[in-house]
Amino acid sequence: MTTAGYIDAAVAPPRATHQIKLYGPEAFEGMRKAGRLAAECLDMLIPHVKPGVTTGRIDDLAREFVLDHGALPACLFYKGYRNTVCTSVNHVVCHGIPGPKTLKEGDVVNIDVTVIVDSWHGDTSRMYSVGEVKRKGLRLMDITYECMMKGIAAVKPGVLLSDIGKVIQDYAEGQRYSVVEAFCGHGLGRVFHDSPNVIHYVKSRIDPRAPAYDADEAGVRLRPGMLFTIEPMINLGRPDVALLSDGWTAVTRDRSLSAQYEHAIGVTETGYEIFTQSPTGQHTPHTSGLGAS
Ligand code: MF3
Ligand code: CO
Ligand code: CO
Repeated sequence: MTTAGYIDAAVAPPRATHQIKLYGPEAFEGMRKAGRLAAECLDMLIPHVKPGVTTGRIDDLAREFVLDHGALPACLFYKGYRNTVCTSVNHVVCHGIPGPKTLKEGDVVNIDVTVIVDSWHGDTSRMYSVGEVKRKGLRLMDITYECMMKGIAAVKPGVLLSDIGKVIQDYAEGQRYSVVEAFCGHGLGRVFHDSPNVIHYVKSRIDPRAPAYDADEAGVRLRPGMLFTIEPMINLGRPDVALLSDGWTAVTRDRSLSAQYEHAIGVTETGYEIFTQSPTGQHTPHTSGLGAS
């Protein structure tokens, strides 16, 4: 097993490397501001997510909000992506492209936004109900939120990065859902997608012959000053995904429903800090009232 290298972010090159950057108090201050704006953007969208609205309209509202607040939409022109948010409806796992498609009663949609404030990235997503959603959709959203929060609750110095995935996978599979393996959380800061990869399942359980964890992934122990996202995608059916011909949209291969939540967090001396909490307490705007268990 290789061990991960860590580097003081103050002296690290300003790009993705295979070392894990450890950040100081100014970074936490910057991440608080960026995370808060991203969460406020998702709050702002809540009343707009309703039957008949196009996902393109949601994207326009998000872009205007971000620019009006003196920030930049990180996804716009990122690797050729042309929008501010990703809008992933029903069986779309992630990276759904906003456009002329209208939302309809009973849909569930993930909206994922990343903003750049003073060079710091705030990356967060939530599920939204479109009108009245059936029980199985509400329950999937509840469990997915719990998966993210249980993964976050495991975070403190000394813990293995792979323990986050273990907690998430155990809970999801205990509810007979599956965890998407094709996409993961990521380090972030002044870089959008940095080391380490934060996988939401345990690799060895999937393939016992898999090579030893590399420095970028599960063998890593958490240290104060690490910044990363936790963003599990949970499916009602099989975990397998397919990529549509637009090169972005990831769907469940069996077309079963998929849900996702995302927070950006920092590791503190005693645990974690969530940068992307909704200031109005609306991180689960669908409010199923079912409870998660
Ligand atoms: N916000 C996504 C994430 O959580 C990344 C979207 S990249 C895009 O990492 F180009 F598709 F927008
Ligand atoms: Co992310
Ligand atoms: Co995101």
